[in-house]
Amino acid sequence: MVDTKVCLCGIEMENPVMAASGTFGYGLEFAELYDINILGSFSFKGTTAEPRFGNPTPRIADCTGGMLNSVGLQNPGVDGVIENELPKLKKVFNKPVCANICGNSPEEYALVANKLDACSQVGWMEVNISCPNVKSGGMVFGTDPEAAASVIAAVRKVTKKPVIAKLSPNTTDICMIASVCENAGADGITAINTLQGMRIDLRTGKPVLANTIGGLSGPAVFPVALRAVYQISRAVDIPVIGCGGISSPEDVIEMMMAGATAVQIGSANLVDPYACRDIIRDLPETMEKYGIDSLADLCTAGR
Ligand code: SIN
Repeated sequence: MVDTKVCLCGIEMENPVMAASGTFGYGLEFAELYDINILGSFSFKGTTAEPRFGNPTPRIADCTGGMLNSVGLQNPGVDGVIENELPKLKKVFNKPVCANICGNSPEEYALVANKLDACSQVGWMEVNISCPNVKSGGMVFGTDPEAAASVIAAVRKVTKKPVIAKLSPNTTDICMIASVCENAGADGITAINTLQGMRIDLRTGKPVLANTIGGLSGPAVFPVALRAVYQISRAVDIPVIGCGGISSPEDVIEMMMAGATAVQIGSANLVDPYACRDIIRDLPETMEKYGIDSLADLCTAGR
């Protein structure tokens, strides 16, 4: 009998599989399809202080090996999440959820974190300093060490819950940003958010996305994410969540061999809403195939 349990920043998880923010909403649509309690957890949609409509459409584009999105943090705002989404989630999900928080300033991040800190359902605070689809905040903070530190420090001040920095690959030295976040008080790192990309419609000669540029995700980015996790997990002393193009139990194991303590499944949920369910179902058999007894032992094995 293999052991899929892991511990992420002091919180035990039955398995390391989380659904990634922006691909699982606030969980409810997926709860209609299967029992989402089989997940290790999930990170809910990036949440800001005020409701946001997001960017103009079209904001999704297909590409080989993945997809581009330029959603722009559409969400009902933190009060809407607390009043409407979390009470509904409580009826269908009985585990700690990861709150993905966003803002235009360190103060806005702290305001959102402070409100979510009061919610017992929230286990971890995932600080999104990596969204490429907003003019201020997001990736703008996550690619500037001083700004990254000020956001993490501001969130750290208002919560005792584990603070996880979600990092952008659109930077020359992701390990340096990870170290800066660790020094500013982060308890963990999620690597990676999407890579900036674009497409042009040959018939019009114009960009496919109304916002011109979006974020690339899907199997095409898996080796980039794996490399980032490998390097970051050797550069910091806090756990790393591997995210980017994971679409099979083999990918989960490879990501953990690279140094991830847990993993997030993103675009695979948009291709097949049962992706997380099937990966979790097939994980034990895949572990047996490769002679792996315990996932918790795997992430530190190669370091
Ligand atoms: C978005 O809403 O634009 C995607 C979220 C993200 O990239 O962090």
